[in-house]
Amino acid sequence: MTKTFATLAVIGGTGMDHWPELKIEQEIEVETPYGVPSAPVVVGQFHGVRALFLARHGKAHGIAPHRIDYRANIDALAQCGARTVVAVSAVGSIAPALEPGNVGVPADIIDYTWGRQHTFRAGDPDEGEAGALRHIEFTSPYSERVRCELLHAALARDVDIVDGGVLGVTQGPRLETAAEVRRLKRDGCDMVGMTGMPEAALAAERGLDYACLAVSVNWAAGLGRGDIHGEIAQCVEAGMARVRVILAAALPALQAQQPSLR
Ligand code: HPA
Repeated sequence: MTKTFATLAVIGGTGMDHWPELKIEQEIEVETPYGVPSAPVVVGQFHGVRALFLARHGKAHGIAPHRIDYRANIDALAQCGARTVVAVSAVGSIAPALEPGNVGVPADIIDYTWGRQHTFRAGDPDEGEAGALRHIEFTSPYSERVRCELLHAALARDVDIVDGGVLGVTQGPRLETAAEVRRLKRDGCDMVGMTGMPEAALAAERGLDYACLAVSVNWAAGLGRGDIHGEIAQCVEAGMARVRVILAAALPALQAQQPSLR
């Protein structure tokens, strides 16, 4: 199936398993050659813009980061017409500039995950042209166009935002040790999450314009007061409220740049 329901898509993570402001028009159970997506793809209206929404961890937040079928999720969105994807991800902060409760728009990634299905392009003979071996360019893993629109939207709505930084992506589902966070810092990571990869690489392989709103919900292990879950409980709502304001300004701007629906 390939039908263009909408060209803009939002993937919601921890703190955004639902998107209450999206006026739902329909929910589509998409089949993919890779498996079942985390949830039905929701089509709806948000501030006058038609958008797709997918709950990365499933509707009831039951799918652990390493068990998410990232290939099925990206393929399902592409099948529904997505060309531009805003990925919302909760992260822990390493850089002092990104205080918990605030939002960043990372510019780069270091991938520490393992054992995930991380490519459509491994050259598997039964996957035909769509699976033919490609070494995609990934120098800048995020779309600069989408990053800029997210940053402009935040500035226009007076929401503090951190431009740039490196997202380290760990395997989870456990949080890191203090020594692991010290290593991430030495490597140059500014924030750490569990779901940024292979999602970003698969989006690139599918030719989607993809960027991330990284919502800091805690100081990474060893950098805060030592009660990470308490911090997460305190910060997730404030961070997600900021995300909603940013999306309300960014989606109309991104929509204006989209190819018209056929
Ligand atoms: N580490 C990894 N992933 C996360 C964190 C963290 O501290 N906080 C939210 N997602």
